[in-house]
Amino acid sequence: MERTFLAIKPDGVQRKLVGEIIRRFETKGFTLVGLKFMNVSRELAESHYGVHRERPFFGSLVEFITSGPVVAMVWEGDGVIAGARKVIGATNPLTAEPGTIRGDFGANIGRNLIHGSDAPETAQSEIALWFKDEELVNWSPTI
Ligand code: CMP
Repeated sequence: MERTFLAIKPDGVQRKLVGEIIRRFETKGFTLVGLKFMNVSRELAESHYGVHRERPFFGSLVEFITSGPVVAMVWEGDGVIAGARKVIGATNPLTAEPGTIRGDFGANIGRNLIHGSDAPETAQSEIALWFKDEELVNWSPTI
């Protein structure tokens, strides 16, 4: 079964949107298999955003993701990588469709509430970066 990595960023936590955001993935039908509330080290932030290292906003990305606690999660389901990104909406909340998380709650590309893996390879590497195997729960809903 496909898995993806999602992280509610410090703005989502500070704005008390954790429950609302998790609810959207649960009601969509995806299955939560990993969850932790944590502060992000500079080392983890720089690895996670390594692909953006040459971008002018790299420094502010790292500063922001390390500025307060985040909710790191792994979700499972058929097509969950692309499906979760649909629930999340476009990177820039100003152009994200209403009904998506970013479209409904965001107004700033640097404060876009949640990160979601963009492809199978990134999902695999991000899950391995953020979670140990034993932190993931193998289970299937029975209803
Ligand atoms: P995320 O899905 O976490 O992946 C990389 C992040 O970079 C993205 O969400 C945005 O928050 C951020 N980002 C992308 N483009 C810009 C930009 N032009 N200026 C500032 N931040 C950006």
